[in-house]
Amino acid sequence: MVRVLFICLGNICRSPTAQGVFREIVAKQAPDLAVETDSAGTGAWHIGLPPDERARETASLHNIDIGDLRARRVGKDDFARFDYILAMDSENLAALQALCPPEHQHKLRLFLEFASATGLRDVPDPYYGDGNGFEKVFQLVESAAQGLLQQLLADQQAHTE
Ligand code: 4NP
Repeated sequence: MVRVLFICLGNICRSPTAQGVFREIVAKQAPDLAVETDSAGTGAWHIGLPPDERARETASLHNIDIGDLRARRVGKDDFARFDYILAMDSENLAALQALCPPEHQHKLRLFLEFASATGLRDVPDPYYGDGNGFEKVFQLVESAAQGLLQQLLADQQAHTE
């Protein structure tokens, strides 16, 4: 079982979108891959809430339902539990680096490392912008989710050889 945790600031826009897109891609393209997904925020404002309505609507336009997800804050146990801990932007990565014990630091990455063709490091925070920001988030996240799946399939291949 490989465990993947997606991290943003509020856990109501970018990281639940990433979780929803990634779990859908796995279900469709690699249903036998044993993956657990979750998402969390470095901030605590929205704990217990479903994703932002604009994020839910954008995912829904792409036939992905993220309405079951609820925001939570990243905690110390997450660093031991998850194998890949993927930050949506550099600020969130820095926040994780400050919290994470040394033996788990290698698990921390920027999610867009898996979408190198985009040439971007950060998924832009869409919270205070207009609706187009959410579509941009979706596109970036979808691209990185595909790259991540290829990485996990390669990991699996390496383990069975
Ligand atoms: P997210 O977006 O980090 O992608 O979930 C945000 C959500 C809420 C806030 C900022 C970003 N906020 O400041 O409340």
